[in-house]
Amino acid sequence: MQRFNQRICLAITGASGAPYALRLLECLVAANCEVYLLLSDAGQKVLEIEEGLKVPVDISEKQAFFTQKYQAKPNQIKCFAKDDWFSPVASGSHAPDAMVVCPCSGGTLAAIANGMSNNLIERAADVMIKEQKKLIIVPRELPLSPIHLENMLKLAKMNVSIMPASPGFYHNPKTINDLVDFVVARILDHLKLDQTIMPKWGV
Ligand SMILES: Cc1cc2nc3c(=O)[nH]c(=O)nc-3n(C[C@H](O)[C@H](O)[C@H](O)COP(=O)(O)O)c2cc1C
Repeated sequence: MQRFNQRICLAITGASGAPYALRLLECLVAANCEVYLLLSDAGQKVLEIEEGLKVPVDISEKQAFFTQKYQAKPNQIKCFAKDDWFSPVASGSHAPDAMVVCPCSGGTLAAIANGMSNNLIERAADVMIKEQKKLIIVPRELPLSPIHLENMLKLAKMNVSIMPASPGFYHNPKTINDLVDFVVARILDHLKLDQTIMPKWGV
């Protein structure tokens, strides 16, 4: 049996910010994590618009596509359909170590904050909250409405980490990749995964 470092669920929804999602996926594979990868329909569209990535719709083709793209080990990346209630992320009995929704749309943010569980992303997040496991939400919207802010506050009060896609500039970024890495490095820090893409402050 293949031994992986951590089991992480990565959900990609239809907010802007595909580069964050893809860089995070790349880093999770490099850190030898098993990745349960969930893509919303809108998330798949945004990947195409922002990254020119034509991701197959078929689940096994999708899994093969990302496995090949990131040179992952066999079965390191597992993709599941939005109504696959038999997947490990759908139940608390085999919940992953952590889940990241990156980027997170206002719609999925609202659904998670209200426990909707209408698709596998929403259900997987609901499981993480009820099992008191690590859930990181990376919202992206501008400006934020009272609805967004109230939903974020509601989740933060349940120990969900709200990590807006909002890079700092104190590391003197020169490229878009530098900005993306700033956000991804903070997510990796919160997952307690060693990362070398961004130096830690004061070290
Ligand atoms: C190119 C593009 C960019 C978008 N950017 C955002 C965004 O930054 N934030 C957001 O909340 N929704 C954004 N949307 C709208 C969401 O995709 C839309 O609300 C969708 O229903 C979200 O569904 P999902 O949460 O299931 O992925 C964007 C849509 C497109 C096509």
